[in-house]
Amino acid sequence: MNYEKPRILLFGHNGQIAWELRRCLATLGHVVSAGLDGADHELDLTDAEALSRLVHELNPGLMVNAAAYTAVDQAESETELAWRLNAEVVGEIGQLGAAMDCPVLHYSTDYVFSGQGDRPWKENDEPDPRSVYGRSKLGGEQALLGSRADCLILRTAWVYGGRGSNFLLTMQRLFREKDSLGVVGDQFGAPTWSRMIAEASAQLLAQCRTEDGGFSFGEHREEIFHLSCEGQASWYDFACAILEAGSESCELKSLRTEEYPTAAARPAYSVLNNNRLWQAWGIRLPEWREALALCLEEQG
Ligand SMILES: NC(=O)c1ccc[n+]([C@@H]2O[C@H](COP(=O)([O-])OP(=O)(O)OC[C@H]3O[C@@H](n4cnc5c(N)ncnc54)[C@H](OP(=O)(O)O)[C@@H]3O)[C@@H](O)[C@H]2O)c1
Repeated sequence: MNYEKPRILLFGHNGQIAWELRRCLATLGHVVSAGLDGADHELDLTDAEALSRLVHELNPGLMVNAAAYTAVDQAESETELAWRLNAEVVGEIGQLGAAMDCPVLHYSTDYVFSGQGDRPWKENDEPDPRSVYGRSKLGGEQALLGSRADCLILRTAWVYGGRGSNFLLTMQRLFREKDSLGVVGDQFGAPTWSRMIAEASAQLLAQCRTEDGGFSFGEHREEIFHLSCEGQASWYDFACAILEAGSESCELKSLRTEEYPTAAARPAYSVLNNNRLWQAWGIRLPEWREALALCLEEQG
């Protein structure tokens, strides 16, 4: 057994999941972040040469990609950048991983599904994204799997946390500013705390250690797993739970999707079935209300 901690190259630094990963992965290796703002290594991932140079220079034992173009509505008009970052770059990371024998953990989204359904989506259900963002993320999954790197993809959903741009923080701000608010009540998913995603990722990776001190996804390489909190909620349900837990008062009204037009279409039903993760890795996230309570407790 090699007792040296391997180097983990994390793409993303301040992002919701990247921020948490920097903490949760610290027990598994020496985490080095690469990103735009304040990262250990300044890197614009769209610069293929700079990416390749950095990966060769660091020679990591694992790459974790928590960077992405995540502005779902803006992606409709910034199609090229969304595709570059979410699809092509992911393929390039995979190719580097394959060439350097370095495993890659990557995150994808419930938005790869159409949302036309009424039972939680399984990993092998047919993707049919309805937005530029969803298509670009599906492109990333395919490019990574096509690279033949030792890789694993975690599809998650409705991410929120104490930092960054997310529904929890937006609602808390709006409750302070407004007396009444309309929130979409006919789209269903599973709100998922970024901390839980990072902790589950670390627990999964801890099972992937190899004799030589590195990582390998072994029999699960090139597989996709769903990773979201249990249960389901509409955005309205999620907003009600946030309001109930706080001290502000605000009248909440449930809206139909048509009453809240957005540039990108959202899946109506994007709840993920997480059974495979439980079967393969013994990991299951808590019910979304339980995770929300833990997150709010931390906020104080
Ligand atoms: N947010 C959701 O509701 C949601 C739902 C399902 C799946 N996901 C997936 O989960 C993953 C993480 O999402 P998130 O919510 O944590 O994202 P986020 O908070 O929007 O953060 C995006 C990250 O991408 C990095 N980044 C963006 N453009 C970059 C570039 N050109 N070069 C280098 N780095 C760049 C940022 O780096 P800096 O930190 O350096 O700024 C940041 O760390 C993504 O794959 C996303 O598709 C998210």
